[in-house]
Amino acid sequence: MTDKLIILDTTLRDGEQSPGASMTRDEKLRIARQLERLRVDVIEAGFAASSNGDFEAVKAIADAIKDVTVCSLARTNDRDISRAAEALKGASSGRIHTFIATSPLHMEKKLRMTPDQVFEQAKQSVRFARNLVADVEFSPEDGYRSDMDFLCRILEAVIDEGASTINVPDTVGYAIPELYGEFIRTLRERVPNSDKAIWSVHCHNDLGMAVANSLAGVKIGGARQIECTINGLGERAGNCSLEEVVMAVKTRRDYFGLDMRIDAKHILAASRMVSQTTGFVVQPNKAVVGANAFAHASGIHQDGVLKARDTYEIMRAEDVGWSANKIVLGKLSGRNAFKQRLQDLGVAMESEAELNAAFTRFKELADRKSEIFDEDILALVSEESVIHDKEQFAFVSLSQHSETGERPSASIVFTVAGKEVRGTAEGNGPVDASLKAIESHVKSGAEMVLYSVNAISGSTESQGEVTVRLQNSGRVVNGVGADPDIIVASAKAYLSALNKLQSKADRVAAQG
Ligand code: KIV
Ligand code: ZN
Repeated sequence: MTDKLIILDTTLRDGEQSPGASMTRDEKLRIARQLERLRVDVIEAGFAASSNGDFEAVKAIADAIKDVTVCSLARTNDRDISRAAEALKGASSGRIHTFIATSPLHMEKKLRMTPDQVFEQAKQSVRFARNLVADVEFSPEDGYRSDMDFLCRILEAVIDEGASTINVPDTVGYAIPELYGEFIRTLRERVPNSDKAIWSVHCHNDLGMAVANSLAGVKIGGARQIECTINGLGERAGNCSLEEVVMAVKTRRDYFGLDMRIDAKHILAASRMVSQTTGFVVQPNKAVVGANAFAHASGIHQDGVLKARDTYEIMRAEDVGWSANKIVLGKLSGRNAFKQRLQDLGVAMESEAELNAAFTRFKELADRKSEIFDEDILALVSEESVIHDKEQFAFVSLSQHSETGERPSASIVFTVAGKEVRGTAEGNGPVDASLKAIESHVKSGAEMVLYSVNAISGSTESQGEVTVRLQNSGRVVNGVGADPDIIVASAKAYLSALNKLQSKADRVAAQG
């Protein structure tokens, strides 16, 4: 057993399966670059066979990311596995992760297959995958609710066929830490060739125990890979949260005794980027990355922290990317100060041009807002990524009027494929009027299923960060916009969601 713990990030695959969290190829690539900076060991980049869009995203990431193993999910069939291998061709280190359900419920009701058929298909698929790539992971889906004898039989067979990682998913988040840990330990004890594979944990968070279960799988069960997502993103209640599980292993190294490759100071930027890209807001009291994670409001705590910070802090905020430098930037701050702050925050710009564009936006913001906090900078650079995509719709300007006793109205100018258009409308409030003004021109027919506003840095001087979730023809997308004016932020968020709807429609059309 090694003392190294492998971190497989599946934000771009399992995380993206969350309704509304879909990302464009360019957004995924940008997040993959951040995961590379964070030094995860494996990036599960997508499910190449599921759509042309996913194939392109896995391929782009495999071609660009050289310091991390890039992985694609595949069902246990030759077409899926071949597509995954094709997408991973450019990877310096590529992995195929193939899975089939093994619980009685899933085999009988979902797959309508007998256990013997599942056994044969798993075996043959791992053999097929091993002929295409050297690194194959196998997952028995709903593994935790599977019969132990059957699981041992199938896992022994796939290890014999060359699977070098065995992942045991708690697909529905049913496990309890101690029981899950013992489940993994029993598997490792009973599968005769278990020492030929690395054992991995993959826990969903339906009962809020994904992190605890993963840690028990490591400590009690002896697993040496954890599958997790940034901000715990994922279907239903999500997956095991990377920032929590990683900081637990780091902070309690005395207990776990394990080393990881992770460079934790890039955690916060990764969290912001994922939240901004998907529109899934991070709750303020979220461990490690929530706005309050290191804030001490009570007088007793503040006094203690000032005297000796470890009285109430078990981690250092700057170690996970919160800036220790309390100097707030403003309009007199130069390009070097801005660049330095980005570095302190663990944000790397991909080119000088990108840095210049971000600096211009910083200056524009500083003209309108006297103090620029770290949260503003992180929102600004995340928004930069949105702007990079070839957009169909882009915000230009907005004016609106609201007065007690009068029906609010708005007039907005935005571009459609680079051409300026204007829309005007009335509404129940200024936000409603502004979004109706956009719709008066676009006529998307989309239904709004969520609208939320969050003050990025707490006060009324803060930028408002707006998330808009739209649904159209079965597609669900989130758009995010930030601005000191929440009506402008709302319009930006709405246009960003329309862009995503459009790009999803294009992807579906491209698949024929
Ligand atoms: O939760 C799950 O079972 C999965 C598998 C596909 C690994 O995500
Ligand atoms: Zn999963």
